[in-house]
Amino acid sequence: MQYFGVDIGGTGIKGAPVDLEAGELTAPRLRVPTPQPALPDAVAEVVGDIVRHFNWSGPVGATFPAVIKNGVALTAANVDQSWVGSNVATKLGAATGDEVTVLNDADAAGVAEMAFGAGKEASGLVVMMTFGTGIGTAVFLHGQLVPNTELGHLEVDGHDAETRASEMVRERDNLSWEKWAHRVNRYIGTLEALLWPDLIIIGGGASRKADKFIPLLDVRTKVVPAQLRNDAGIVGAALAASGDATRPKPPARAVRRRPVTRPPGGGRRP
Ligand code: BGC
Repeated sequence: MQYFGVDIGGTGIKGAPVDLEAGELTAPRLRVPTPQPALPDAVAEVVGDIVRHFNWSGPVGATFPAVIKNGVALTAANVDQSWVGSNVATKLGAATGDEVTVLNDADAAGVAEMAFGAGKEASGLVVMMTFGTGIGTAVFLHGQLVPNTELGHLEVDGHDAETRASEMVRERDNLSWEKWAHRVNRYIGTLEALLWPDLIIIGGGASRKADKFIPLLDVRTKVVPAQLRNDAGIVGAALAASGDATRPKPPARAVRRRPVTRPPGGGRRP
């Protein structure tokens, strides 16, 4: 079954149809630079152009770098602040002529990794972290998404974590892998003090160079790189459009109950 996914970011807007059986794009994605400033009308127009480029008609999923509740953006990161309070789903729906489902960008990447990538076999508590312009997070319990976690903004050593440990900061300040890994270590350590994950998946731009810094981390939780790389957002958006943004998986029963056997005569002990 095919659905269409659009990944809206601060620098680029990418889209493609996705085969949800395989978790793969069925055509090379189209990337258009994000209009600057990233105002609602301009961004919606680009999304409409991308969907039309593929002659797509049907449900569309879109990621957005913000807290999204019922289609409405409650924050805005790396896009114009005028998005705050607006219904992104309705805006993009008008531009594409299709029904559009919108979710947070890190949530979308996490949903794709849980379905087709590094989290496929994972159960328990999984945290996906995307290191890019900021730090995005997606939290899953037994495959079920807890939407809109904003754990990239945890306070670490007196700073908003993403202002010290994002991939953008590493590049901007030309930090060595050791220095940056130290900051990521402090970030994950702070998160681990509050939430005890079973697995951490690292995605975003930094995941391409995972071998440079994951071995330098000294944290309690198992850390693995994301597998879907550039396409995670598009695939996660398409999954959301299909209404299957989570992978429901009931917790395995650890304890098997013994059948209750009652002694003859009512069961009361003398
Ligand atoms: C925002 C998140 C977003 C992340 C990655 C953060 O600054 O608060 O909503 O998921 O950046 O784009």
